[in-house]
Order: sequence, then C-alpha cells, then structure tokens
Amino acid sequence: MSEYIIVQKGNPLVGEVQIEGAKNAVLPIMAASLLAKGSSVSLERVPLLTDVQTMAAVLSNLGARVMHSENNMEIMIPEKLQTQTPEHLISKMRASILVMGALLTREGKASVVMPGGCAIGSRPLDIHLRGFEALGAKIQLSHGVIEASVVGRLKGTTYNLGFPSVGATENLMIAATLAEGVTVLQGVAREPEIIDLANFLNAMGAKIHGAGTDIIEIHGVDTLHECQYEILSDRIEAGTFMVAAAITGGDIIIKNIVPDHLQPLTSKLQQIGVEMTVGTDWIGVKGMPSYRAVDIKTGPHPHFPTDMQSQMLALLLCCEGVSTLTETIFENRFMHIEQLNHMGAQITVDANIAIITKQRLHGMRVKATDLRSAAGLVLAGLIADGETKIEQLHHLDRGYVDFVGKLQKLGATISRIER
Ligand code: EPZ
Repeated sequence: MSEYIIVQKGNPLVGEVQIEGAKNAVLPIMAASLLAKGSSVSLERVPLLTDVQTMAAVLSNLGARVMHSENNMEIMIPEKLQTQTPEHLISKMRASILVMGALLTREGKASVVMPGGCAIGSRPLDIHLRGFEALGAKIQLSHGVIEASVVGRLKGTTYNLGFPSVGATENLMIAATLAEGVTVLQGVAREPEIIDLANFLNAMGAKIHGAGTDIIEIHGVDTLHECQYEILSDRIEAGTFMVAAAITGGDIIIKNIVPDHLQPLTSKLQQIGVEMTVGTDWIGVKGMPSYRAVDIKTGPHPHFPTDMQSQMLALLLCCEGVSTLTETIFENRFMHIEQLNHMGAQITVDANIAIITKQRLHGMRVKATDLRSAAGLVLAGLIADGETKIEQLHHLDRGYVDFVGKLQKLGATISRIER
C-alpha cells in the first residue's frame, strides 16, 4: 500500500502544537541501554516513529526485550548479548551502527555490516572506527562486514575526532563508559542530543563530564544500573513547525520544547523578520506579510542545523532579495531543490551554495528524497498555487509523528491518501 500527501495553499496556520521526544536523542539512548547488563530501563516521551521501531528490532535481535506502549518504552537487557547486528536492519537505518560501541564495551566484540551511504551522502564511519582502535579494539573489514574485537576491556585514552561527528561522539561515549580508566574525547559534537545521551548514561551510573562542550571526559565504571528517563524534546520537529507558521503568515505556539536548543534557527528567523515570543518551554511564532533575504550556512551545533536546511529553503522563497544557503555537513543534501524548481522556485546551486530569490510556486507532483526534504516539500506545498502531491512518505514517517494530523489541526488544507 503506498500513500501520498495532497496539500493546497490555504489559511495561515493558527493554534498550538505539542512537540514529541527527539528521534536523534532516543536512538542513541536506546543503543546505550544495552550497557545495563541484566537490568532494565524505562524511557518516557518516546516518539512513535519507524526509526524507533527499527532500533527496537535491532535491540531485540541482540537479545534485549523491548516493550513499547504509547510514548513509554521498557527495555530489559540480558546478561549476555548477541554481537551480530542483522544486515537488513543496518541497511534500513544507519543509526543502527550506534549499538557497536555498546556491544564492543560489553561483550568485547561487535559484528556490523558496513551501512551503505544514503541519499544525502556517503556517510563513512572512519571517525567511529579510528576511535574504537584508540580504545584498544581491533577492527577488521571483510566482505563489507566490520568485525571489532578487544581482549579484556577497552582501555581509556585521549582521542581527537577531527570532525565533530554526532554519531561517532555517541558511539565512543557509550564505548568509553565501561572502559578501564579515563577517556578524553576531543573535538566532539556539541548537539543537545549529545547532552541528553550523557545525562541518560549518568542516570545509569556512568561518570561523564563535559557533554555539550568540545571535550568530554569519561571515567570508566564496571557496571551500570536501571534507570527511568524522559527523552529530550525534538528541536527539529519544533523548528519545522516554526517555519510552517512563518511561511503561511500564521500564529502558532510550539509547546514542550527547550527554546535555547533552537537558538541557531531563532536568530535566522529574526533576521528574516519573523516575529517570535520565547517562553520557558514554548515559542510563539507569528508570520509577517514580507521577509528579508538572509545568508545561512549549516554547521555542527551551535551553528545552523543541517536538518533544518530543506525546511528553511522553502521559507527563503518568500524573502525579498537574494538569499544563500550553504550546506557544509552532507555532500548531497540539495536533492529537494530539483523538486522545488519543478514547482517554480528557480533556485540555482554553485557547489554547496544554493542561491534563492523570491518566487511564486505552483503545485506539482513531487517525490521526497530524504526525511527532511519530505517536510520541506510539504511546507512548500502550503504556499504553492493549486495542489501539490508528495510521494515516498516512508521518509517522512521516519522522523515525524502524525505530521499531517498536526498540520490539519492548525488549519492546513492537507490530507494523506492511501492509494
Ligand atoms: C546525525 O547523523 C543525525 N542522525 C542526522 O540526522 C544529522 O543530520 C547529523 O547527525 C548531523 O547533525 C541521528 O542522530 C540519528 P555525523 P550522523 O556523523 O551521526 C561525516 C535526520 O534527518 N562523517 O555528524 O550520521 C558524514 O559523512 C538525520 O534526523 C565522516 O566523514 O552525522 C557527514 O558528512 C539525517 N566520518 C558528517 O560527517 C564518520 O566516521 C556529519 O555526520 C562519521 C561522519
């Protein structure tokens, strides 16, 4: 059964939206739960996403028991884990690689099929693997399978990542948690999801300091215990709805968020001319009749998030003047531009810089190419004349819970059709 979205230009979006727990926080936390040998963890505010189901399947394949009801999840971890991650799950979701650090540090070995690249880039794992070697692991690659092993325990070390990879920071922080001695990770990612993972590990008894800065120090411990933990709010879902308010000239209150985590986006929206009111755990966003062009460059946190790039591109089409958007994280994350140009966007690309001017869009049949471009195309459909049909919705369901339903509640003329 394949589905598609039909969206039409309609009224300004008005109302409130409750934001879910973050996909990019819950996935590493689920992987890290494997460290609680013979124990269990309870997670709250778990988003009902296909990527979460995939990670649950990975954990189950390794011997854990995962019970998921509504937004709560219980993970029971056995004394002994399988160490082979199923190939079909790795190819389905690259983030499955995050179990590698946990398996290596708990069982002394991990066997993971090399995840392929995806639409947005080749996405190698060199920073992860070099880090495991620095911790004393032996890494072998044969026939596309990564075999990692260590005799005894991993040994604490000092390792500079070279590039602040989010996944490598998470994998190495997890691995170092049960290593012998102290590990100092330098040049790490500073995303809020890194802090959430460190808080979760510390709630299980780990000794991790410095998450959120560019140096994280991990004092290895012998065992971890059960814990209950609430997942961090999803700043990218929140940012997507902020852009939805701005692009439709609407008035939306985005609730259950950490406004500070959205600062890189909020400051750009302010430059554009969007009106915002920042509360303790909410942001009110009011769209304006006209906006100013800006220059945006994605980068590791606290720079502008690459995961907001395609959503922002749609908004830049409403700005007077010439805007630029430079993508520095992924080498191929402009595929949605072709789709937007079919809708009349006239965006030009010079290397990794997109040049955007104000254009009127007309509805078309378009295809999502990755999770965030799916959201970006929906936002473009909200301002395009006529009807826009968006296909390949499996991308959307990876990272957004009931995106269409939430937009409908805000007054959007949108529906999801089963073919
Ligand atoms: C995480 O991916 C997120 N996914 C991505 O979100 C996000 O776009 C990305 O971080 C950047 O913020 C999850 O958290 C599950 P990286 P990750 O390692 O960890 C290169 C979404 O839409 N690199 O920081 O894979 C890599 O090729 C998804 O929710 C190496 O060269 O990102 C890329 O160009 C998309 N060698 C850049 O670093 C390595 O060993 C950033 O990758 C690792 C990464």
